[in-house]
Amino acid sequence: MSAANASSRGRSPADVDLSVSLGALRLRNPILAASGTFGYGTEFAHLVNLNRLGGFVTKGLSREPMVGSPPPRLCDTPSGMLNAIGLQNVGVQAFVREKLPVLRKFDTVVVANVFGYCIEDYLEVIWVLEDAEGLAAYELNVSCPNVTKGGLQFGNDPVQVKEVTEAARKVAAKRPLWVKLSPLVADIGSIARAAEEAGADALTIANTYPAMAVDYTTGRSRLGSPTGGLSGPAIKPITLRQVWEARQAVKIPILGLGGIETAADVLDYLVVGATAVQVGTASFTDPKVSERLPEEVREALFEINMFTVNEIRYSFRAENS
Ligand SMILES: Cc1cc2nc3c(=O)[nH]c(=O)nc-3n(C[C@H](O)[C@H](O)[C@H](O)COP(=O)(O)O)c2cc1C
Repeated sequence: MSAANASSRGRSPADVDLSVSLGALRLRNPILAASGTFGYGTEFAHLVNLNRLGGFVTKGLSREPMVGSPPPRLCDTPSGMLNAIGLQNVGVQAFVREKLPVLRKFDTVVVANVFGYCIEDYLEVIWVLEDAEGLAAYELNVSCPNVTKGGLQFGNDPVQVKEVTEAARKVAAKRPLWVKLSPLVADIGSIARAAEEAGADALTIANTYPAMAVDYTTGRSRLGSPTGGLSGPAIKPITLRQVWEARQAVKIPILGLGGIETAADVLDYLVVGATAVQVGTASFTDPKVSERLPEEVREALFEINMFTVNEIRYSFRAENS
């Protein structure tokens, strides 16, 4: 008799409560679709029941529309995907005018991903969004070069992460504020603390890893740009460790993001301390993955006799004996 059969007699996977709280925000399940891999949500509405998602994060929104990078923008690598989209988007004004009215018809949590090239850019985008109905939170993408600081990425420097988060918190955002960290940093704990001290309500860990793919026969990049960002299964073990490191540094909720394809991947992130997760690249091969995974997580928790998501969170034991 399996463990589940022994002590969950009379109960079924339907009894597993998947709901989680990220500060004041309640999600029906801990799985959101990640920024840049789920468009503005509207493109997926004919394929995915948006009302069943934990939520989704929009494509990055900037002050002005952006045309993005030259093609090709995606390329496969043996265990992950490389992208150089160049943050193409319709701009925050068009998002509010054209996309949000459609999204308001759904009962789903919509998080706006925000980016810029100086602090004022971030604030401008949030100001426009503050006047609009239908958003649950903001996610600041800090993996962008700060043109006022010689092009150094915000996300590589705790001081800059603090400045942009503090400005967004104090000057602009009344909604919950998440900060999405860059993964390729020497000490993710110090960056996570900087965001927490500056007033972030949650952290998303993490973005893609700077990487390249070349064709030696032509001596050219396999993307339209020299470099791109690596995502997918290749990055999961690295990002998992970053989540665990950050968990020990901060108290605010963490959303784990990197290489999730299965229920086991989701639960691995919860075990090392994530409260929720996001799913990115996997949506390219299966657009319904974020709708399917909650049911699979329910089954997996039932199998190990757990009936709430909270029971498994941060159950990681560093001493392996
Ligand atoms: C095609 C593509 C576009 C992306 N665009 C954005 C974006 O606009 N803003 C952002 O914060 N992250 C963006 N990301 C990063 C993802 O949200 C996610 O952090 C990353 O892909 C790692 O998760 P995954 O391995 O599940 O894909 C993008 C990723 C991909 C693959």
